[in-house]
Parts: sequence; structure tokens; C-alpha cells
Amino acid sequence: MRKKIIAGNWKLNKTVSEALAFAEALAPLVAGKDGVDIVICPPYTALYSVSQAFQGTGVATAAQGLFWKPSGAYTSYVSAPLILDAGAKYVLIGHSETRGRFGVAEEGLTPDLLKAFGETDSGVNVKTHAALQAGLIPIVCIGETLAERKDGSTDAIVRDQVTKALDGVSSDLVRSQLIFAYEPVWAIGTGEVCAADEAGRVCGVVRKTIESLYGADVANAVRIQYGGSMKPDNAAELLAQEHIDGGLIGGASLKPADFAAIVAAA
Ligand code: G3H
Repeated sequence: MRKKIIAGNWKLNKTVSEALAFAEALAPLVAGKDGVDIVICPPYTALYSVSQAFQGTGVATAAQGLFWKPSGAYTSYVSAPLILDAGAKYVLIGHSETRGRFGVAEEGLTPDLLKAFGETDSGVNVKTHAALQAGLIPIVCIGETLAERKDGSTDAIVRDQVTKALDGVSSDLVRSQLIFAYEPVWAIGTGEVCAADEAGRVCGVVRKTIESLYGADVANAVRIQYGGSMKPDNAAELLAQEHIDGGLIGGASLKPADFAAIVAAA
């Protein structure tokens, strides 16, 4: 029986004071929900304060990304040791928005500007190693774009992303530390949720891929979240799917009551 994990990804939202007000409001709403792992991913600027505010509440924090070098002359980047030092337990890796794969048309995003996002499969792999080595739990995001779904390559894309992310990662670490989040890009921030049975089916493809690499024991231990317009009114159906072990929630994680309702559904 895999423990459910519900994570709220605030993306580029909330000042430190807004983040602290959220933490104060959320803590009593999720008190005693020990059967679910609860995670909030604030922007870097609020990571330390939010981690402090949630101490002793059972809510953990995650960074929204990391750089794979631990320290050095790397202007603007944030490493696994610094993320741990700020109080986080988890880190998102390979979110479609950091891969430059958007579900909603981004105004003014020319191909040249798009390169600024540019997280690649090999980048996802080195970051996964860096996170694990430092003792952070990686939440590795994968998923197909609308064009890829339409041309029938969803399963192949997901298999390829999972396989490349895991290159060189030991079975012990996959079994005990790694989390995947299946996020169909076309369902992110669009209000268009993937049908629960289809989301569950693709999460099953993720598990089969892990099984082909590490065997059934490891595959059955790994938690796989669904992300993409998960809300209080659709969470229960998605979370009831055999291969869906949690949610990675964007828009509906910005209000304490909505996020707490999703935790309750888990
Ligand atoms: O990280 C979260 C996902 O991108 C889902 O975002 O719930 O706003 O669609 P969303």
C-alpha cells in the first residue's frame, strides 16, 4: 500500500507575507492527516520562511527546481545543499514549465526566449542524481504535449522521459526515494483535466517502464502523482485510480481551503 502524496506547486506566486498567511491558514485544516504526505513548493524566496512556519505541522516543503552543482561560480542558480539548508525535503525536477513545454500559449515567447527554460532529459538526469546524493527526494515530472498526444506518441514519450531520468540511478534509491509526477502538458493550467481512467492508464505505463528497468518490487513501491487541473471536485476520482498515488497541484494549491479539500480527498 503506497502512501498518498499531495503537493502544491505555487509556481511564480506569493510574496513571503502571502506565503506565511497561507501556512497559518493551512496548518489547522490539515492537522492530523497523517495518512497523507503533504508538501508545499513555494518560490525560492519564501522557501526558508515557509519551511520554518510548517515546522511541527506535518507539512513538508519542496523547491521548484535545482542546479546540479553543489556550489561555485554559477550566478543565479540554487543547489541541493542550499535547498536542504533552507528546510526543504523534496525538489521538483523536469516540470514541463522548466522544460519550456507549455500547455497554454505564452504571449511573446519566441523560440529564442524559449531556450531560457531549456531543461533537457539529460539535465533532468543529472539533477536527479544531485538531489539524491544530497538527500533530497526528487519529484520527477514527465508528460506529453497536445501535439504528441494527437499523434499517438504519449506512451513512447513517457517511457523515454522515465528511462532517461533514471539513467544510472540505483534500484535502492528508486525504490525508497524517487517520486514521479505524470503531467500531461495540455492539462496544465488549462482547466482541461485528463480523464481519470486515461490518467491512471498512463501512470500504469510509467510503472511498467520502471518495472522493465528495475523489476516489479521496485516499480510497485514507487509513488506516481497526477498533475494537470486537479481540483477539489475531481481529485477523488483521479486519486482512486490504481496507479495514481497523489497529486501535483498548481492553481488549486493557491487557496488553503481548496488545497486542504484535495488533501482530504486523498
Ligand atoms: O505543478 C503543477 C502542475 O503543473 C499542475 O498545474 O493544477 O494549475 O494545472 P495546474
